Amino acid sequence: MTTNNVVAMIIGSLRKLSYNRKLATALISLAPAQLTLRIVEIDSLPFYNRDRDIAPPVEWTLFRENISAVDAIIFITPEQNRSIPPPVINALDIGSRPYGHNVWKGKPGAIIGISAGQVSEFGTNQHLRDALMHLDVPLLPHSDFYLGHPEILFDENGNIVDIGTEDFLRKFLAEYDLWI
Ligand code: FNR
Repeated sequence: MTTNNVVAMIIGSLRKLSYNRKLATALISLAPAQLTLRIVEIDSLPFYNRDRDIAPPVEWTLFRENISAVDAIIFITPEQNRSIPPPVINALDIGSRPYGHNVWKGKPGAIIGISAGQVSEFGTNQHLRDALMHLDVPLLPHSDFYLGHPEILFDENGNIVDIGTEDFLRKFLAEYDLWI
């Protein structure tokens, strides 16, 4: 029996023409029928500040509700200075507080991404794994889902151009679906 799951995708790049955003869109179209992928935006989240937990900004509340409502989470992120892009850290902080109300807890997670450097988003992946372990997010054990050479991955409509890459992404989704 297959289980239907709704998965939030957090994108680590805020720019309009982001390759990671294109990857998120490609994953939606490649996902098996029982996996519903939706992007949860993090670009308008005010910086986490504990003082504001008394009267949280509406963006925080909606974000926490959106994450609480899904079954699982995929982080789709580039590497920045060998580490995690600040908007992702901010989203993790907001979802983890107030203390005792961690909305990430127990959501099966996966990390995938595109970066321009020789080792793609290896650094981000490793650092994000540490943070997510702390947040009680069980992660897909197979962690090597990195994509490089972003400039040749997509056509002008955002479609993946290489059948090998498409197979790789289908494999990622199948492994993740099983993992959830
Ligand atoms: C980068 N980039 C980058 N790439 C990489 O492989 N390792 C790194 O440490 C960094 N560091 C870094 C820092 C900053 C501030 C920027 C703006 C960029 C390059 C990055 O991988 C590339 O720009 C990707 O295309 C970004 O992903 P999006 O925006 O296309 O999704």
